[in-house]
Amino acid sequence: MTVFKNQPYQKLLYFDGFAGSGDIEVEGSDGGDKYTIEGAAMRILKIDKPRNFNMYYFVEKKKSLADELNKKIKSTFPDIKSFVVSEDCNKKLIDLSNKFLRLPKGKGYKVLGFIDPKGMQLEWSSLEALRGLPIDLWILNPTSGTNRVLKRKGEIDESWLKRLELFLGMSREEIRNHFYSKRPTLFGDLDIVKENDPINKLHELYASRIAGNIFKYVSDPKILRNNSGAPLFHFFMATNSEIALRIANSVVTPKLGF
Ligand SMILES: C[S@@+](CC[C@H](N)C(=O)[O-])C[C@H]1O[C@@H](n2cnc3c(N)ncnc32)[C@H](O)[C@@H]1O
Repeated sequence: MTVFKNQPYQKLLYFDGFAGSGDIEVEGSDGGDKYTIEGAAMRILKIDKPRNFNMYYFVEKKKSLADELNKKIKSTFPDIKSFVVSEDCNKKLIDLSNKFLRLPKGKGYKVLGFIDPKGMQLEWSSLEALRGLPIDLWILNPTSGTNRVLKRKGEIDESWLKRLELFLGMSREEIRNHFYSKRPTLFGDLDIVKENDPINKLHELYASRIAGNIFKYVSDPKILRNNSGAPLFHFFMATNSEIALRIANSVVTPKLGF
């Protein structure tokens, strides 16, 4: 927003692919009462300095949550141009690519996107639809959930194998070759063994297949952890802009005095 504050003619769109209801219910620590905090959608709408977005587009698959979010936005921010749609984010990313990002020079939007799924819902083909386009996309890569699906000896259910293929954009053979190796046993046959450090490996693979292929750059990841310090998600930005990359890296790893 700072970069575009002196370019009011540049239209900016905020796209949230997994928007929720506008509220997040949080478990109290040590069995304490549940409480509610404001979700990302409502928080982003409040930002109006150094400027705001020209349009806000929220996607939430579950209709009851989408309706709830829409109601909150319309009552709190009646003058803001916003849309809440109850659809699959994958479909809307392809629409976004066709309708907003391919307009003639000067008429198109620049987009800041936020992808906050719980699991492997973002499909690789949806990312591919954004190739080379003016969107800076923050993505939560669900590395811990994906690792749970990659069973120790490679015995993965068919439905999960299909989900992995859609999510990673790789065939099951490629996935097996990447995360498992065959080691000889004492009895002369071969055992299938999962590679070490799979959570970080999952992010390295994901990020390295995006960078220089779908987007020019990916930022460093911020590892989001649970209360015991175990990694849950790798949070990072994919972008075609060198300036956005620099800003994203400074958000991920703040420098003293920044
Ligand atoms: C982790 S929550 C998002 C929380 C939200 N970012 C916030 O700050 O409140 C993920 C949301 O994505 C929705 N969802 C799941 N699959 C989806 C899909 N394929 N497309 C769009 N939304 C989906 C879920 O119903 C859920 O509300």
